[in-house]
Amino acid sequence: MIPEYYEFQNMGKVCSGKLALEHIPYELSMKHASRPLILTDHTLEKLGMLKLLQKAMDGVDTTHVFADIYPDSSIDTVRQAADFYTRCGCDSLVAMGGGSVLDTAKGVAMVISQDGADIYSLIGCEELPQGKPVPFLAVPTTAGTGSEATCVAVIAHPQKDVKLEFISGHIQPQVSILDPRMTQSLPPRITASTAMDALCHAIEAFSCRQKNPLSDAYAIAAIRLISSHLLTAVTHPKDMEARMAMANGSMIAGAAFSNSMVGGVHAIGHALGGVCHIAHADAMAILLPHVMSYNLDVCTDTYSELLLHLAGPGAYAAANAHERAQKSIETIRSLNQTLHDTCDMPITLAQTNRITPDQFEAVAEKALKDGAILFNPKALGKDFIIRLLKEAY
Ligand SMILES: [Fe+2]
Repeated sequence: MIPEYYEFQNMGKVCSGKLALEHIPYELSMKHASRPLILTDHTLEKLGMLKLLQKAMDGVDTTHVFADIYPDSSIDTVRQAADFYTRCGCDSLVAMGGGSVLDTAKGVAMVISQDGADIYSLIGCEELPQGKPVPFLAVPTTAGTGSEATCVAVIAHPQKDVKLEFISGHIQPQVSILDPRMTQSLPPRITASTAMDALCHAIEAFSCRQKNPLSDAYAIAAIRLISSHLLTAVTHPKDMEARMAMANGSMIAGAAFSNSMVGGVHAIGHALGGVCHIAHADAMAILLPHVMSYNLDVCTDTYSELLLHLAGPGAYAAANAHERAQKSIETIRSLNQTLHDTCDMPITLAQTNRITPDQFEAVAEKALKDGAILFNPKALGKDFIIRLLKEAY
């Protein structure tokens, strides 16, 4: 069904393949940029990934590097990096890392494009004027957040203990560089949970209230890629084909949810992160089948179709839509169980060792204030969230 009105913003250019990194100099030159600020973190630096990137950027000045970026990037980090960019006289951004590095780079792109405005003054700026666009290339090193294809940045305000959301089409990277060398050293445990985050983006995009024909097309492509290559990427980390499929699936899921938004899994997952510091990807894997079960009665047809993309035509032969929809949820449960057995990914809240039942009320209250809850296909109240947390425990 086509919504009465919808918008869809396409992602930027994609360079995907074995030597994608080596295309960076050309992409920068096409944007008349020659002095990029490279944003990354010290772990990737120690793993030799920064050297690999610098070597691939042959002929470009790669001496300006900002690596003081830590998990859950903060507005202080954005201020420092933007300051460094200006002091070094840089003219572009190349961000290599996971969600935290990419979100920091988005913050820097925002500040620079707005003539150095303070990041705090740009919160929630859907109408952020384009300003002076900063050439911005993203090189993701995980296959999960899809941040390289989204117009959203989540940046922490440590003094206020909150995560701020920045939304603008102008902070979306102009080029995503997907190179299998970037993800092949990810350990199985991280590969598994980040992949479940990506799958969750695609499934929520496919079933949430703002879905539209274009976001569906992206979500379906992502679901097919992720579900058919996830286990190979976990069990055979060096398998280039599986790594490329996961990198593409994650990016495409990012483009889907950046337009159709995510729902209850993310609303409760963000609250679990805020109250109990449960890792985002773990929370997604744990909550996904429970929220799907809750949504089942209003998503029967959607979840029925989902089975075709998740498990292929053979599995789709189940007798009726309700049975197929239930089978979709069972497929997610069984995928979770396999990942738990293979690499110890937690599949219950108790297994994270970060939450006790007396915190459920606080989690539910925080989830109700999360923007994603508005897009869940079925209204979620406090009692239902607490019931769902008990089931997931
Ligand atoms: Fe997510």
